[in-house]
Amino acid sequence: MRRVYLDNAATSWPKSSAACEAAMAFVRDCGATAGRGVYTSGQVADRWLSNARRNLARLIGANNPQGLAICCSGTHALNAALHGVLHPGDRVVTTAIEHNSVLRPLNRLVEQLGIELVIAPCDAWGIVDIEQAAALVDSRTALLVVGHASNVTGAVQDLKRWSQLASQASARLLVDASQTLGYLPISVERDGIDMLAAAGHKGLRAMPGTGFLYASPDLHVAFQPLMSGGTGLQSETLDAGVTWPACVEVGNLNMAGVVSMAVAAEEAQNQLSRSPEPTSQPWLPPFQRLLEGLRGQVGLSIAGHPTGAGAPVHVPLVSVLVDDWDVHDFAAVLDTHFGIEARAGWHCAALVHQSLSPGVGDRSGGTSQLGYSGTLRLSTGHSTSIEEIEYTLDAFRQILG
Ligand SMILES: Cc1ncc(COP(=O)(O)O)c(C=O)c1O
Repeated sequence: MRRVYLDNAATSWPKSSAACEAAMAFVRDCGATAGRGVYTSGQVADRWLSNARRNLARLIGANNPQGLAICCSGTHALNAALHGVLHPGDRVVTTAIEHNSVLRPLNRLVEQLGIELVIAPCDAWGIVDIEQAAALVDSRTALLVVGHASNVTGAVQDLKRWSQLASQASARLLVDASQTLGYLPISVERDGIDMLAAAGHKGLRAMPGTGFLYASPDLHVAFQPLMSGGTGLQSETLDAGVTWPACVEVGNLNMAGVVSMAVAAEEAQNQLSRSPEPTSQPWLPPFQRLLEGLRGQVGLSIAGHPTGAGAPVHVPLVSVLVDDWDVHDFAAVLDTHFGIEARAGWHCAALVHQSLSPGVGDRSGGTSQLGYSGTLRLSTGHSTSIEEIEYTLDAFRQILG
């Protein structure tokens, strides 16, 4: 049976061939680690690490490549950021659209560090009203944390307004760009972003086990490490007092991942410079066809995808609910009968579901015979074809009539 992969929001497939080939060649022909030996192959590894920092910095509009620390996932980058800058008593304002990799560490830091956590609500599209968020920000607010795009609805937040809010409050802004990196342009300098965390294995199409954290230079000196260990620096002391980015990059790096991010970031940059507008991205037409087809399909409702003027910019993912079906059962039929791989459930985002479209409310409110068990999420990627979308829509018609 054919395979139609529609879970690119979890991790993309296929990955960039150039990134995979470069990573494979590095492991096969070099294999040394960075920041340790000064022998020849160690220098090759060092150069790849520099290339990765430089290309990722360019992709996110950062002037200083040294602001980039390599991580092993979006989750790692977010945890490093939160532990890096928060202190007891800090107030943190985040949003209901966040992934659990933001909400869970913050929730733990309430217990562990005594931070105060406040959560701004979102509307049925997954958009956070900036005025409502502003009402939660006060003089004790040290950090605002916002996801650039929801991994459940795909809606994109207006980062300029978030950075205005942060600077008015003299607070820092941490952006989770895990769902937008490689799909939409972003610039930390232009948009006034203090920290940006992202996965490398989603829209960027680098290898699994990749991510990074950007932090503006004024945050580096006092940055608190999440972990301690070998860094290749000051090895004769037990005092870990290491500097950025080594304080995030403890231990041997995933060099295959570093190489793949260097190559994938350059590819993504080239692509985005060819078509800088969100509406001219090559991944958009198949996704729009999917949305249009799902809207015309009887027996299902779309969560959080409005049309027409004023509709928010989005990334290529959509959540649906299927009448009289548990979404897990529906996903299983798509997979076993049609080879269509889509994801059912809560998508590691505990809070956003409460705000989705009326259909979601009805189900979670118990008016349906079936309890709410999350959404069916279909996420296209850079390689999804219109033909795959037509096949998918035909599968929906065969199942639902
Ligand atoms: C919005 C968002 N943030 C963070 C993450 C965590 O990324 P990773 O899976 O690389 O840890 C995800 C992953 O699904 C995500 O969708």
